[in-house]
Amino acid sequence: MKILLLGSGGRESALAWKINQSPLTEKLFIAPGNGGTDAYGTNVALSPLDFEAVKDFVVAESIDMIVVGNEDPLVAGIYDFMGRELPSVLVVGPSKEGARLEGSKDFAKQFMAENSIPTARYRSFTAATADEGCEFLSTLNPPYVLKADGLAAGKGVLIIDSLEEACRSLREMLSGMFGGASATVVVEEFLSGIECSVFVLTDGNGSYRVLPVAKDYKRIGEGDTGLNTGGMGAVSPVPFADAEFMEKVRTRIIEPTIKGLSARNIVYRGFIFLGLINVGGEPMVIEYNVRMGDPETEAVMLRVDSDLVGLMKAAAAGDLGDLELRHSPQASATVMMVSGGYPGSYPKGKVITGVGDVTDSIVFHAGTSRGDNGDLLTSGGRVLAVSSLGDTLAEALEKSFGSIGRINFDGAYFRRDIGRDVMK
Ligand code: AMP
Ligand code: GLY
Repeated sequence: MKILLLGSGGRESALAWKINQSPLTEKLFIAPGNGGTDAYGTNVALSPLDFEAVKDFVVAESIDMIVVGNEDPLVAGIYDFMGRELPSVLVVGPSKEGARLEGSKDFAKQFMAENSIPTARYRSFTAATADEGCEFLSTLNPPYVLKADGLAAGKGVLIIDSLEEACRSLREMLSGMFGGASATVVVEEFLSGIECSVFVLTDGNGSYRVLPVAKDYKRIGEGDTGLNTGGMGAVSPVPFADAEFMEKVRTRIIEPTIKGLSARNIVYRGFIFLGLINVGGEPMVIEYNVRMGDPETEAVMLRVDSDLVGLMKAAAAGDLGDLELRHSPQASATVMMVSGGYPGSYPKGKVITGVGDVTDSIVFHAGTSRGDNGDLLTSGGRVLAVSSLGDTLAEALEKSFGSIGRINFDGAYFRRDIGRDVMK
């Protein structure tokens, strides 16, 4: 098959790495890709949001399947657009209506309520109901959770200790703190527990497969302190997500989600990302995303022992049939090397050395580019996702840290405590 993968981050690097290994892959293009994805296919300078340009490319190169890495094109309706314009091309991802599970937190909460899927108690407010929002806040226990309804580049969730400040922030959000994304705000109960990420591939006709479970690390500082980032690392498996926990996830969350989509006639042939929290052994949904996670994908792909292209093709065509999705018994760990200063301002264009010396890990590029002389340069906050397999999580982590020791760029930072909380 000829495949076009949309996106440019570490997640897309890991997907490209996996797609490139498939016997079904004849040619892989990555748009726009990054300084590392060209090892697995051909980078194409296209914006995934420019649907007309994507269409022209798909026609020109006779692409058979589009894999959408990030949420923006899905929320903007790329599935529906391609379905109208090029109905014979497979698209891995939900329809625009299905992408609302991520694109609108209010929609996601309504959907969960409708399908009795366990999640935090909530109400939604707009500028017209801000006073009621403050009243509702006063019925909850601190800390208070405020979520912008729309996409806000991962920054739209505030967790606030004081009631007075929460009420003030609610009003600020409603008057444009995140632009149109916070014209509606979901106020919800705070859930206390440890989080994990469950990824499901569904064919939209009732069948699904569960990928290896992962846990990501969002904060910049060790011990989960400091500002939120796009993700500082991930591990898989997650010891607390054992067979008993996963059975609850299947019966209480995955199956009601799939039934709920079909009850609403929502077309959804792609990945569903369940952001879960373990509250005293009971899984509850923190959020839905409509694509794979980053940096979880970098760890998860190392543990997928089946041909992902065959699975994605079957899902996008609407019938997973009896295809298996086997999980490697090994553990995997991804540690992100980021630019000094990130997630605040940081320099770009620093020369990266040593990646070629790494033997024990796979170094997925996230924010890299090539200089005119071929040098590998930093081009983003999150630069490299150093990913390893091991017989245990401890061994996988040791390999990633060892590999990081061989890589250098000015200002490089990483967290040394990735995975420590789940190994206790
Ligand atoms: P989200 O953008 O929905 O993933 O939220 C960002 C982060 O905020 C989540 O990964 C959680 O760590 C945290 N969070 C969101 N909602 C809640 C909640 N109801 N209770 C506790 N933590 C939450
Ligand atoms: N790692 C969380 C996300 O991809 O949204």
